Amino acid sequence: MNDMPKITDICASDITRMAGLDTGPVPSYPYYSPEYFELERENLFKRAWLTIGRVEQLPEPGSFVTKNIEIWNAPIVVTRDSKDHIQAFYNVCAHRGNQVVLEAKGKAARFSCGYHGWTYRNDGGLLGIPDEANFFSVNKKTCGLRPIATAVWEGWIFINHQPEPEVSLETYLGGFGQAFTNMVWGNATKSILFEAHLNANWKVIADAFAETYHIPCIHPATIGSTFANRVNPFSRPISAEFWGPHRQVSTFGNPDYAPPTHARVEQMAYANIDTGNVLGAAQKGAMEAFLAHPAVNPSRSQHWAVDVTWAFPNFQIDLSPGGFWSHRFWPVSPNSTRWEAEFHIPDATTARERLQQELYVARIAEILLEDVTNTERTQRGIESGAFPFMQLQDGEVMIRHSLHHVDKWVKARTVAEALA
Ligand code: FES
Ligand SMILES: [Fe+2]
Repeated sequence: MNDMPKITDICASDITRMAGLDTGPVPSYPYYSPEYFELERENLFKRAWLTIGRVEQLPEPGSFVTKNIEIWNAPIVVTRDSKDHIQAFYNVCAHRGNQVVLEAKGKAARFSCGYHGWTYRNDGGLLGIPDEANFFSVNKKTCGLRPIATAVWEGWIFINHQPEPEVSLETYLGGFGQAFTNMVWGNATKSILFEAHLNANWKVIADAFAETYHIPCIHPATIGSTFANRVNPFSRPISAEFWGPHRQVSTFGNPDYAPPTHARVEQMAYANIDTGNVLGAAQKGAMEAFLAHPAVNPSRSQHWAVDVTWAFPNFQIDLSPGGFWSHRFWPVSPNSTRWEAEFHIPDATTARERLQQELYVARIAEILLEDVTNTERTQRGIESGAFPFMQLQDGEVMIRHSLHHVDKWVKARTVAEALA
């Protein structure tokens, strides 16, 4: 066929050099060294802004959610108070350290510690101490829930371990934050959260979602034909952009993909989204504002499937014709990670839409399992020390970019130096 496009017309090449990165092998020890993990904890995760979710998860005054930030050794509670202010606190009682809020989420004007009954307002202030007269000189003003630096960007709630962060969230996100200003985060009010504890370094899990080179091998039956075709059999990316430590790679979608004729349910689902490249839970036409945003499919390619977008260090947002989803990779130890993946689903208005959504969720679960099946094996292989280096190709540029910036933060004396 003479009119077949060439891979060089569709895909980006030499992304790694374009990003200013080296092209040699990368070291393996950051994936298992306990010393390196402690440096990541102190110099990266305790200095960077980290996202813990969206404002829609705190829908009204009094709403709260609790989280465990393992890399900080800290249980936290995030509240929306009566003035609509969103704030994270250590979920720790000022009396003797018990965890104050035990529910995962809910709505409350005040919290009462289950140990001796100290009570707190949802803005963190200490309300009452049972038998206060028998204490000596407790200053109630300094015994509220201890606040954590909190900021919101485009509906995403970020926290910072530094009591007074060296840089604002705006400075931290820089050009990346600007590129996504006024994004339409459709269907953010409803989500399905997948969570797993995996015996692998957080970067091994993150790397599983940082390239499409694996797609023909790992996902042949699920999305192999949507992310690759005869022109681009190894799913090379179509474009990439980098903003300091943050990044976005647009992945290839096969525009000719159609579900096989026997797959009637899948055909119904595909008919409801415009491009046909990936399954989505959204309805045709409802995604216009989202898809028109310049940060979505920025090269306006006809061969676009998903923008894999990364707010450094551990937060991935994926933008697709059917909407967005996200991953957060929470380090627990050098070789264990808590992984969260969250997908958004609008209200179904017809039986057909409901069927489409059920298919979407089932298909996602299948794909995610394919993605993480390798990770614990990979960790054991890396930890064996058989190879002190890994080989990365151009399509794996996000892994290299991440390693480069993690290392920069680990070694930098200040956040300004890490971001420079
Ligand atoms: S530890 Fe909370 S009231 Fe005693
Ligand atoms: Fe995958």
